[in-house]
Amino acid sequence: MKVTIVGAGAVGASCAEYIAIKDFTSEVVLIDIKEGFAEGKAMDLMQTASLMGFDTQITGVTNDYSKTAGSNVAVITSGIPRKPGMTREELIGINAGIVKSVVASLVQHSPNVIIIVVSNPMDTMAYLAHKSSGLPRHRIIGMGGALDSARFKYRLAEALGCPQSDVEGMVIAGHSDTGMLPLTRLAARNSVPVAQLLSKERIEQVAEETKVGGATLTKLLGTSAWYAPGAAVSSMVQAIACDTKKMFPCSALLEGEYGLSDISIGVPCIIGKNGIEKIVEIELSADEKAKFMESAEGVRVVNDLL
Ligand code: 2OP
Repeated sequence: MKVTIVGAGAVGASCAEYIAIKDFTSEVVLIDIKEGFAEGKAMDLMQTASLMGFDTQITGVTNDYSKTAGSNVAVITSGIPRKPGMTREELIGINAGIVKSVVASLVQHSPNVIIIVVSNPMDTMAYLAHKSSGLPRHRIIGMGGALDSARFKYRLAEALGCPQSDVEGMVIAGHSDTGMLPLTRLAARNSVPVAQLLSKERIEQVAEETKVGGATLTKLLGTSAWYAPGAAVSSMVQAIACDTKKMFPCSALLEGEYGLSDISIGVPCIIGKNGIEKIVEIELSADEKAKFMESAEGVRVVNDLL
């Protein structure tokens, strides 16, 4: 299994690190436009192999897509990250051009590749990857919901005063501060609905903290986060590499599911060796449905800027 990671910045490097440490794939290629940068990150990571106990071969290359040939999975992290006070949507001008050309280069050298899009505004970048490549929809997956759900579980565990392994929670809809939909109604601790354990106000607070999870970190760090995004991507790559059929909320191109078409937005998906193997249509309450549709409208507004 060969995995290419485009962009050797903080998210790309974290993603390579977690993939290597989990040791489920033979080869990772890290590619960046900055001369020598990916080579340096790859060398630094390879010097952790004997310490961390992995055999994954990580190679760094500067802008030479021929070295990515035959990749089974490619992760696109390239583009600029947001600065404090910026929304993900403000990045569209620069990132759209980058993502479009990266997708073309990847597909040229790896016609069977499954692409995971991380660059922001992610739902629109995933949509652009679909539109510009024409690849079957199961082979382009937007990474947002896996990360947002991890942040939701962090906040739920904090509110409940329990380990994160006790909690279940999922975030669907758009990967934006206003568009995310944490499914608080379905969140649970050891199968006990959180509504039985937390007040309505506290649950509302958890949902709000989850939605601004990325912005909170951007404010603290001065740039966008990388550990949790890298870990979320690595879990999705692992689900493909190991054909686990794990369910993640992912940005998928909808063709009638959830009453929507021609939009890429976060919905629960089964991920396996073919990428998105199934879109799971869960029953939403009237309120959740209204919020989901509102989020989709927000995504479409950004898509229209392409
Ligand atoms: C985040 O939410 C990178 O969009 C990503 O941190």
